[in-house]
Amino acid sequence: MGELGQHAGAGAITPITVRQGAFAFADETPAHWIPHAPELAQMINGASFVMPHLEPFLVATLGEAAKLIEDPAVRREARDFCMQETQHYRTHRRFNDVILGQGYGALAEIEAEMAHSYARLLQRPLPVRLAYAAGFEAMTLGLTEWLVGHRTRLFRGADPHVTSFILWHMVEETEHKLVAHDVYEAVSPGYWRRAYGVLHGSIDVIRWGRRCYRALLLQDGRWRQPASRLKVWWWAARFLMGTGPALLRAMVPGHDPRQVKDHPWVRDWIAGHERAGERGAPMPLIDTQSAAMPVPF
Ligand SMILES: [Fe+2]
Ligand SMILES: [Fe+2]
Repeated sequence: MGELGQHAGAGAITPITVRQGAFAFADETPAHWIPHAPELAQMINGASFVMPHLEPFLVATLGEAAKLIEDPAVRREARDFCMQETQHYRTHRRFNDVILGQGYGALAEIEAEMAHSYARLLQRPLPVRLAYAAGFEAMTLGLTEWLVGHRTRLFRGADPHVTSFILWHMVEETEHKLVAHDVYEAVSPGYWRRAYGVLHGSIDVIRWGRRCYRALLLQDGRWRQPASRLKVWWWAARFLMGTGPALLRAMVPGHDPRQVKDHPWVRDWIAGHERAGERGAPMPLIDTQSAAMPVPF
């Protein structure tokens, strides 16, 4: 770990609020929770199955790095990140267990492979893992821009519980957009490893997500239906167009997520939650029948 160093002056840090992932999922929560786009629902479900393996890895990695950081602001930021991500993967676990219970048992085998893969990744040097974390977090910013920006088309008429849960996760990804980058810069700065991490973190997660949604759609009998496969390709292309700019941006030397503007809906969500001031109460649900789909506060 000889190249680990300290890098002072992270610049303004936006505060992170740790919220309870107070979402309840009934056993009958539909796997096809977006009625007009069942393939997209299963693709998002596939990503959800990755989270209880990926996010504990992020927590372990940034938690380990936090101990090496001298700047108290960045150290606190890293610890808040860990608490936020812990809420995320616990909530995804609850949702995933409901889906598993609906006859998608094939996912359990892929979950075992993911557990093994992330355990192996945890053996890699800390700077490699931090670059992976920063790279993945850069992709989630692009994903947030896409999902939040197109929410009225993507989620119109969708199950409000699952929609609200997914968009809550996206809001908090924006809220902690600086952390993985700041921690990487504080502990192990270096351009080329960081640029490689953008590809490593994004491609690895996309690959696991695809494995999961393929299994879900195989179980549905849709994977081999040409019309369904075309829709999967269509959504995959939309996803790549949505996240591609964020990935390219993250690979530019000197990239700093502070330069990325937050979507106004995300800012409204954060301000609305702050005003509501309820802690531990069930999150209010987004009205997915609404043409504007405003924040639920
Ligand atoms: Fe997360
Ligand atoms: Fe995150």
